[in-house]
Amino acid sequence: MNNFTFYNPVKILFGKGQIASIKNEIPANARIMMTYGGGSIKKNGVYEQVKEALKDHTVLEFEGIEPNPHYETLMQAVEIAKRHQIDFFLAVGGGSVIDGTKFIVAAMNYEGGDPWEILSIKAPVTSAVPFGAILTLPATGSEMNSGSVITRVETQEKLAFGSPFTFPKFSVLDPETTFTLPLRQISNGIVDAYTHVLEQYLTYPVNAPLQDRMAESVLLTLKEEGPKALQNPQDYDVMANFMWCATMALNGVIRVGVPTDWATHYIAHELTALHGIDHARTLAVVLPSLLRYKQESKKAKLLQYGERVWGVNAGTEDERIEATIQATIAFFESLDIRTRLSDYEVGEDTVKAIVQRFHERGVKDLGERSDIQIEDIEEILMKSI
Ligand code: NZQ
Ligand code: ZN
Repeated sequence: MNNFTFYNPVKILFGKGQIASIKNEIPANARIMMTYGGGSIKKNGVYEQVKEALKDHTVLEFEGIEPNPHYETLMQAVEIAKRHQIDFFLAVGGGSVIDGTKFIVAAMNYEGGDPWEILSIKAPVTSAVPFGAILTLPATGSEMNSGSVITRVETQEKLAFGSPFTFPKFSVLDPETTFTLPLRQISNGIVDAYTHVLEQYLTYPVNAPLQDRMAESVLLTLKEEGPKALQNPQDYDVMANFMWCATMALNGVIRVGVPTDWATHYIAHELTALHGIDHARTLAVVLPSLLRYKQESKKAKLLQYGERVWGVNAGTEDERIEATIQATIAFFESLDIRTRLSDYEVGEDTVKAIVQRFHERGVKDLGERSDIQIEDIEEILMKSI
């Protein structure tokens, strides 16, 4: 097992009715900015629950953080929050609202020039305004990690940052808040969480059987509960299990002491940046061809994954690996997530554009062995068409 440091200070408040307890988590004299998206929280009672819980607090609202949150929108929030001397933020929504709020809290205290530098040149975040989150969409794990992905519309860039200062102070996970999710977002959430686990698991063995089995247990639970969530999106127990899986998939626990890949996410973000395709769908396109392309170096873990998660144990190693990748594709497709670039009307032009961007950005050494270069990315994407 590799050396590791594990740090995760996020307090989780899980279960129905937990929104009410946020009043005890936020200082009584805080000047709060409540951030949210396009209005889903006003249709499912979440907004009212938050307002009721914070009726004795000072709360300013910032509405309209869009999916794949825009730097341009978030900078408006920063400007308003500074003017109103906001000293606590509350993100209410999916990964985009939580990620967007992480950028806002970091930008509030950024002392360099333009806070975009936090993303573009990885300028270090040395402090941030505290914030909490109320999650309404199980998918990203943003509610219990310190990462954030932000889009700049002007340049069609989608970049990530993270810092020890951008963990939420607390996150409420009430499965009832998910009852209004469109099926499309449930499918997205399952595939995003599933891919998060695979990116931390399908690498090479380092004799870490506990981490392997924890990753497999999240995969198996998503495989079981995911289809149920699509069939019964208002079943509390199903949504509770799905919600906790998505959080466990990317809160740092399964990653300790093992190599991680992340090339699929890195490449896939470009497809959202250029075409606005939902994050999970871009992963479903890139992952299968990346696994095929890197099957030699991922062989041992692919065989283990196939056997333990999909029951693939017959045939030659190559046949088992292909059957495993096929099973993964079939799972995604069964959730109504298409897995080829052409399904999204994206072709070679986009592949060339992404390659060009990576050349300009000097991208190199992706993957768990730092051996995925730009020419490999091109081949992986060409195989996805
Ligand atoms: O904006 P509203 O009106 O709230 O509607 C949202 C949005 O349209 C809607 N929604 C959310 N909860 C709902 C609901 N509709 C009905 N009922 C509810 N309970 O769902 C739509 C999508 O929301 P969004 O937040 O964009 O989805 P998701 O949670 O999948 O987040 C995706 C973003 O997270 C980033 C992605 O790149 C993308 O920008 N990621 C963040 C990560 C992290 N911080 O660790 C890791 C991930 O790999 C990912 O990159
Ligand atoms: Zn993701």
